Amino acid sequence: MIEYENLGKLNAPFFEDYKKAFDAVLSGGWYILGGAVKNFEYEFGHYVGSSHCIGVGNCLDGLVFALKALKLPAGSEIIVPSNTYIATILAVLHAGLVPVLVEPDIRTYTIDPKRIPEAITAKTGALLVVHLYGKSCDMDPILATAQTHGLAVIEDCAQSHGARYKGRMTGTFGIGAFSFYPTKNLGALGDGGAITTGDERIATAVRRLRNYGSDIKYHNEVVGHNSRLDEVQAAFLSVKLRRLDEINAHKQSLARLYLDGLKEDFVLPAVDADYFDVYHIFNVRHPRRDALKDHLLKNEIKTDVHYPIAPHKQKAMQGILSGSYPISEEIHATTLSLPISFFHTESEVRRVIDAMNSF
Ligand SMILES: Cc1ncc(COP(=O)(O)O)c(C=O)c1O
Repeated sequence: MIEYENLGKLNAPFFEDYKKAFDAVLSGGWYILGGAVKNFEYEFGHYVGSSHCIGVGNCLDGLVFALKALKLPAGSEIIVPSNTYIATILAVLHAGLVPVLVEPDIRTYTIDPKRIPEAITAKTGALLVVHLYGKSCDMDPILATAQTHGLAVIEDCAQSHGARYKGRMTGTFGIGAFSFYPTKNLGALGDGGAITTGDERIATAVRRLRNYGSDIKYHNEVVGHNSRLDEVQAAFLSVKLRRLDEINAHKQSLARLYLDGLKEDFVLPAVDADYFDVYHIFNVRHPRRDALKDHLLKNEIKTDVHYPIAPHKQKAMQGILSGSYPISEEIHATTLSLPISFFHTESEVRRVIDAMNSF
């Protein structure tokens, strides 16, 4: 059986270094916001090219803190893509703001910059864009629109560690929010996240919000949360960060095999010169997606769907999100994610390609 993902196999190359990193934290005796978090914040900020990096409990909380740090009037509207993981939209709601959905570009699956201006109103406070599947959004027109309307930009980088647009790293265009959920290109062994920003005031606000609204112990400046990057996870993340480029390069080489080998029946991910894609997910689209998934399973190949239900169709969003989003629905109905983990081999991907082409 070719698995879609296997976290044990994915992390096996790091086990020995993880054990050493864990021992160092254990014997260090400082388990909350200690040296390992500080060290990882420095290293990841340096990797992204951002002057500030703040470790948080997970990306959802990071997005909430980024939104709260903007200090927008209650009820401000936040523009988000209609085809994202639910967390992006939940963050807007948890921050007391109003999500306004904008359809993606059907070629790239990221928010369509041409559709953003028509969604802007007097209440719009920020653009929250998502670098979905490991591909950057088309940032030039997004930044131009933000500048014209005086809007902040937040980047949901949960799936884009190391992805670039015109040579520039995602997480440096606005406020970046990263996830280190175990399956991510840079994944921990539990939950974790980080905010990147070049703005000192945002960094200070996020640092407070993650730690009970406090800079100094028992002095609370704002109504804060408890959502700090865990010390042990930070130590594991520093180990894996050293090989993030290798992980991304491996995924890119497997993606290249798919792109060259799959027959024309499938809609493949767009490849454009300005984009350095890191293939957190390698998706294809096909009108008979469910039959294709079954066919692959009969051939001992597991796949996944990112995502089967569009956010506005989720039960939790009834009465909150309304409207019709046909492009999003088309993507959700036809997309299929193929195996592309760090542990998958070229010969396994060739087996997937043969099974796909026999469909
Ligand atoms: C696009 C996107 N945003 C946000 C998140 C939330 O990340 P976390 O699980 O770290 O809160 C995810 C997680 O899968 C995601 O894919």
